[in-house]
Amino acid sequence: MASQASLLASALTKRLQGKVALITGGASGIGECTAKLFSKHGAKVVIADVADDLADSVVANIGPSQSTFIHCNVTKEDHVRNAVDGAVSKYGKLDIMFNNAGISDLPNVGIVDIAKTDFERVLSVNVTGVFLGMKHAARVMIPARNGTIISTSSIVSRLAGAATHAYTCSKHGVVGLTRNLAVELGQYGITVNCISPHVVATPLAKGFVGLDDEALEEMMKSKANLKGVVLKADDIANAALFLASDEAKYVSGHNLFVDGGFSNYNSALQMYEDSPYG
Ligand SMILES: NC(=O)c1ccc[n+]([C@@H]2O[C@H](COP(=O)([O-])OP(=O)(O)OC[C@H]3O[C@@H](n4cnc5c(N)ncnc54)[C@H](O)[C@@H]3O)[C@@H](O)[C@H]2O)c1
Repeated sequence: MASQASLLASALTKRLQGKVALITGGASGIGECTAKLFSKHGAKVVIADVADDLADSVVANIGPSQSTFIHCNVTKEDHVRNAVDGAVSKYGKLDIMFNNAGISDLPNVGIVDIAKTDFERVLSVNVTGVFLGMKHAARVMIPARNGTIISTSSIVSRLAGAATHAYTCSKHGVVGLTRNLAVELGQYGITVNCISPHVVATPLAKGFVGLDDEALEEMMKSKANLKGVVLKADDIANAALFLASDEAKYVSGHNLFVDGGFSNYNSALQMYEDSPYG
């Protein structure tokens, strides 16, 4: 029989033991880190992404007994349906849906010059993709009366002027879907939340600002509210782990900011700019 100490250790180190998670955009950046962390905590992980080679190497890294890859473009309903059904047929159920796939668009394009097709492309992945993930996760979670749906929004769901119109609009859309769905799915015992990260040096963010990891992190350090630490993809994965775990069983309809307090202040006001403590 397991000792009390080993049961406690396992509760701390295997917070998702026996759970099945599907992660869109799990081949890179935040999704990749989350896939690795979830599997370390005992979950079976299905990676749903368009980047086949990257996804294959994430599965090889995690181990094929713990994870699998299903090619999925989140803008296509049959792909999302297939990914959800694939997770259920391989692992028997779906406990955690992480709608994380996202894209950005070109910076510094004014409203007059934004092509409708570019606007719709961003909304199609970042909003329609999340909607489809929510819809098909709910389809299998409602009969099970169990599950948690997490999506990736952004600090631009609160801050204006920090990203393009399409991206900002899309991340507000993720919050709207999250809050509305949390109300619909509460009656089935399903929680729905989203995470709003500040800038993390991933291919998406580096492509947007045109900087490498080091230069981007240096820039963010100088602009950050919280000093002495640098935001990493692991920090977002840890927020997702909390929301996916039983510790968050009564958290629903929440937008969890992982931004060191950045989105709470207006840097133009500068009240605490100079420390009174030197
Ligand atoms: N990196 C940041 O600074 C930051 C900040 C806030 C929010 N976010 C959000 O975090 C999420 C993850 O982004 P990331 O920074 O890890 O970027 P990333 O580029 O490293 O990862 C995005 C992943 O999504 C996949 N993807 C793109 N389009 C897809 C589609 N149509 N179908 C399926 N998969 C698709 C990509 O192949 C990639 O694996 C996104 O929703 C992004 O908007 C990122």
